[in-house]
This record gives sequence, structure tokens and C-alpha cells, in this order.
Amino acid sequence: MKIVKTLGLSAALLSASALSWAQQKTVWLDEAYRAAYCVQDWGMPQPNQAVVWTPSPLTVNGTVYERGVGVHSISRMLFSLDKKALYVTGMVGADDNNPFAGKHRYKIVGDRKVLWQSPVMWKGAPVQPFHVDLTGVDKVLLLVEECGDGIMYDHADWLNVKFVTNGEVEPIPVWPEPVKKEKYILTPPAPDTPRINNPLVYGARPGNPFQMAVMATGRRPMVFSAHGLPEGLEIDASTGVITGVCHERGEYSVRLVAENELGRDEKETVLKIGDKIALTPPMGWNSWNCWGLDVDDAKVRDAARTMHEKLQPYGWTYINVDDGWQAAERSSDGTLGGNAKFPDMKALGGYVHSLGLKFGIYSSPGPTTCGSFLGSYGHEETDARTWAEWGVDYLKYDHCGYMDVQEDTREETIQAPYIVMRDALDKVGRDVVFCVGYGAPNVWNWAKEAGGDLWRTTRDITDEWNVVTAIGCFQDVCAQATAPGYYNDPDMLVVGRLGKAWRPQVMESALTPDEQYSHISLWCILSAPLLIGCDMAAIDDFTLGLLTNNEVIAVDQDPLSAPAHKVLTDNGQIWYKKLHDGSYAVGLFQIDPYFVLWDQDDAVRIQQQDYDMQLLFSRIGIEGKARVRDLWRQKDLGVFSGGFSAKVPWHGVSFIKVTPLTDAEAAGK
Ligand code: GAL
Repeated sequence: MKIVKTLGLSAALLSASALSWAQQKTVWLDEAYRAAYCVQDWGMPQPNQAVVWTPSPLTVNGTVYERGVGVHSISRMLFSLDKKALYVTGMVGADDNNPFAGKHRYKIVGDRKVLWQSPVMWKGAPVQPFHVDLTGVDKVLLLVEECGDGIMYDHADWLNVKFVTNGEVEPIPVWPEPVKKEKYILTPPAPDTPRINNPLVYGARPGNPFQMAVMATGRRPMVFSAHGLPEGLEIDASTGVITGVCHERGEYSVRLVAENELGRDEKETVLKIGDKIALTPPMGWNSWNCWGLDVDDAKVRDAARTMHEKLQPYGWTYINVDDGWQAAERSSDGTLGGNAKFPDMKALGGYVHSLGLKFGIYSSPGPTTCGSFLGSYGHEETDARTWAEWGVDYLKYDHCGYMDVQEDTREETIQAPYIVMRDALDKVGRDVVFCVGYGAPNVWNWAKEAGGDLWRTTRDITDEWNVVTAIGCFQDVCAQATAPGYYNDPDMLVVGRLGKAWRPQVMESALTPDEQYSHISLWCILSAPLLIGCDMAAIDDFTLGLLTNNEVIAVDQDPLSAPAHKVLTDNGQIWYKKLHDGSYAVGLFQIDPYFVLWDQDDAVRIQQQDYDMQLLFSRIGIEGKARVRDLWRQKDLGVFSGGFSAKVPWHGVSFIKVTPLTDAEAAGK
């Protein structure tokens, strides 16, 4: 191993100009940066060390570098130079201590302009030197970006980086102190008359137990009926739950009806009895974000009860137990039961089903799970059978523990155990949604073949805007994999009271109200599975508003599941997807292109101001006129020609449906 020594000079040596010679000084990055001011996806940047658990030197391709800063991508460090700096030099490289060959890129940005950028880098790529002129630059940002393979927090090294300046290199915060804004509810209340919210299509397998509820808002009691059900299925008129077994493959157009004392509603849905289930993204609750490993039977029952009362009428269905349910040992016949917190998993599954909901569980292809509980390695068929007995409808199968047994990190290697579990699930005669876990690059390229209905594309989410955008804003790279029954999973929702998975206490989401509207809107445009992660028993009206807007949910549940697209604009990002009726769901998101607040002195005004954002219809393929509807407020905004502009709050969104006028409408007929 080679060791590169650097001289720890703190005084000026490298003057080019005789005039300023006496003032010039060298400022080393590892001395200048301030960890608390930096924003990176996980943990803190490290001086003169790689960003790993146990202290380890900055090492790239076997060479140890004495000076520099080790960071996790995405990472941002901002400095005020006061136009007095001359240049910055150094090198960049992916640290040898990277569990994956994740791709990332380094950028040096001066006053919002990219001054230098590295090629795409990964573990093993040669270091890249830079020498960047900073004359006239007021603020400089050292940025490490992801490059779209879904592997996040790569270990990225800034090596031997030094500024040469006639002034100071002042570290400044990348992110402002958030200005508190009151929560505000946009979703109009549902009417008392019945309104059915089932998706337009539903998939189930022939010969397996069938369960689908008619989900309708409106005053109770309500009477339900379903017309055109295939043989073998019947509806319970008082609960609206359709059960039975349908043996005949085919597409059945079924008219769902809900009636109460004030009126009735009906809706046509197509039951597709065939090979695919989850023909629209699963919607439900998962215990992880809120409770982490502290989940127990009572908390899951609370969640089920609240979901049944408040959310199921809008389409919410799954109650998923994440990690932490497993007994410490398998019994002598190899079965794995619940631990003391889960005395009777079968009864729990039964309770969830008794409410017309579905039941989900968590395991890993490895010997252990991420939370160090027992995984399914070597016991796949036994576990699949056990879960079928408990009535499991959804499996989140998380990669983590498999790292202990896998021979390498090739896609085929990581895909293999998922195929084993898919085969095991297929033998137990239940419709089980299969979520392939996170852990290998480009999971969207291979998870479909492994039998995944959905797959985690990212690191774990937390309730930080930095993380929500790091995850959400790169989903365009995998968007083409989206199709009915196949979904990228950018991880669960971070609204409501949550957090035991990553902090000691359950607290209100740290996202501002505007950020929460953006989060839900983006996830719906992405056709993401919607899994609530909050304390359901303590859900407040604001959070309910976020989760019960039927027009917003309809975007997520649109049967086309068309891939989302991203368009960058000066002050944000426009995301859109096509809907089955020929219209488009469009989100105009206010997001700084570098995810940085450049001017801390003006931070309060910047956060309180609205931003003009413009959608040119031609950018999304619409020529001429279109009707625009505000989805959150459920209000028509009018007919617009060529484009639409909106005022968007800081980190907020304008979420609209854009419907091109037909030729006849455009001609005024
Ligand atoms: C993580 C996973 C989380 C949660 C956790 C349980 O790897 O991404 O969502 O399931 O494991 O230990």
C-alpha cells in the first residue's frame, strides 16, 4: 500500500501574484469544513478518514491519503469565499471501503454554476485531480451526487483538497433553519353520500382465496352489492367484502354499488383473474417507520382498527408487520413463530382479515434480518407455508442479512434467493404480494424476473427533506420499469407521528406541511406503493387530509401505471405521468437545483416566499389547449393555452391534472 504524504502548510507559499503574496494562504478542506453545516444522506463527514463505522484512513485503489474529507453521497459542503479565493485543488475518488461499486459524481459549483465535475466514479475507478479557478466566486459548493444505480450513501473521498485565498474560507450552513408554517388542509371533506374509491382494475390468481373490499366513503350504515361477479365469488352486503375462490381465468367487468340513506354510488371495476396481482400499487401501513423494532401485537391491531375506520374507505388495505416479530429460535420442526410481543400471529392475521384488510409480514433471504432477527435462509418453504397459515398477503423480503452469505455482489447472486422465495410462495396457494428488498445496484433490472411485484429502489427513508428528495428525485432513472403489477418502491411514507426506526422517540414528521404535500404528490406520480408509517392511533386531521384525497390517490392508482418523467427547470422540477384517460398528472415542485440555500442571510424571506413555476404544455407532449384541475383542492382552474403557471411555496408543489381538449372542444362545439 502506498502512502501519500502531504505537507500540512497553513501559511502562504504558492503565490502567483507579487501584490497579494503576503496575504495569500492555503486553507485545507479538512480544517475548514464544519460537519454540522454539511448535509449528507447519512451520518457526518469525517476529517482525514473514510466515512465508515470504524475509523479507517481515506484509501483509494490501495493508496492511503493523509488529508481530506470522507463523505456519504449525496453530500454538500458550502463555503463563503467573499470573492477572495484564487483556486482550489485536490483529488476525488470512491473509497476502497465501499460495500458496493455504487456510482457517484463530484462537482464544484461556484455561485450556482458548475465549475468542474468529475466523470462518473465508483470503487476501483482512478482518482481524478482538479485545479479549479475561483476568481470572483462568492460561494462555492462541494457536491457529491448519485448517478442513478439506486445504491445510496456511497463512500466518497475529497482528497488533499486545499483552497488558496487572499481572504477566509468560511463554512456556511447548506440548509436553513426551517421557518415554522402552520399545517393547512387542502383536501375537501368527503360527502355523506356514498362514493366508491376502488381502483378501476383488480388482479387475483385463479384457485386462490379471494378477498377484495368495496371501499366507499359516506355515512354508515351502507349496503353493498356487486354485479357481474365471476362464479365462486360473493359479496357480504353489510361489509362490502367480496370473498370466495374463482377458478376461471378471465376479465370480469363488475359493477360495485354502495347505498346509504342519502344516496348511492356505483363504479365499474375489472377483475382480472390471471397471473398478476397488485395491478395497482399496494396501499397500506407498515410498522417500521413508526415503531422500528418496538412493534407489537397491540400496535398492529391499533393500526388495523384505525385503518378500517378512517382510511380503508379511500383504498388503504394492507397492514404489514415489519422486522421484530420473530421468535429467537425455530421450533424443532423448523417453523418460526412470533416472539413474546406477538403471541399469536395467526390470530393477528385473522383480526386484520376480519376488518376486510390484508396482512403483511417481513423477512430476509439471509440467516438474519436487518434488525438481527432470524431470516428465512434455508427455511424458505417452511416459512412460506407458515405465513400462508397465518393468512399472509404481502411479504417484504429484505436483502440485508443475505450479505453474510452471498459470495459476491453481482446482480445474479443477489437475485437468486429471491427466486427461491418466489417459488416457495407460489406453492402455498395464496396471492402474496412480493416486495424485493434493497441491496444491489439496479434492482429494477432484475427484480421482475425474480418474481417481484415491487422492489425497494433506495436506502431507508427518514423524515428529512434532504432524504426525501435524495430518494424521490432520482426515481426517473428507474421509472421505465413501472407497469401495472410492477412498481419501484422508493420506501414508505414519512407523514404523521413516527420515527422509532431512526430516533429514540416517536414525533411528528420533521417535514414541513409543504414538504409533506410534495412527498405524497411525488409518490403518487411515481405510482409508488403507498405505505403509511405513522402511529395510526394518533393520526391527526392534517395527516388524514394528506392520505384521504381521492383525486390524489387516483393518480397513484391509475390503471395505466405509466412511467414518470422529470423535467428540470430554473427553480424546480416538473414531474408528470400519463393517465389512462389521456390526461396527465403533473407536479410542479419548488426544489433548488443543488438542494442548497445559497443565501443564509435571507433565509427567512426565501422560505416564506412563493415561486413562479411554469409548465409549457409542449414539454409534456400536449399541443394547444388543455383543462387544468388542482388535485389537492379538487378545483377546476380553467382552460389554458400553451402552458400553465403557478405560485409554488418553498419546497412545495402545485399538483394538477392536465387534460388536453378534444378537437371538438377546442373548436368550441
Ligand atoms: C431495513 C429496511 C427497513 C426495515 C428494516 C428492518 O433494511 O430497509 O425498511 O425493514 O430493515 O430491520
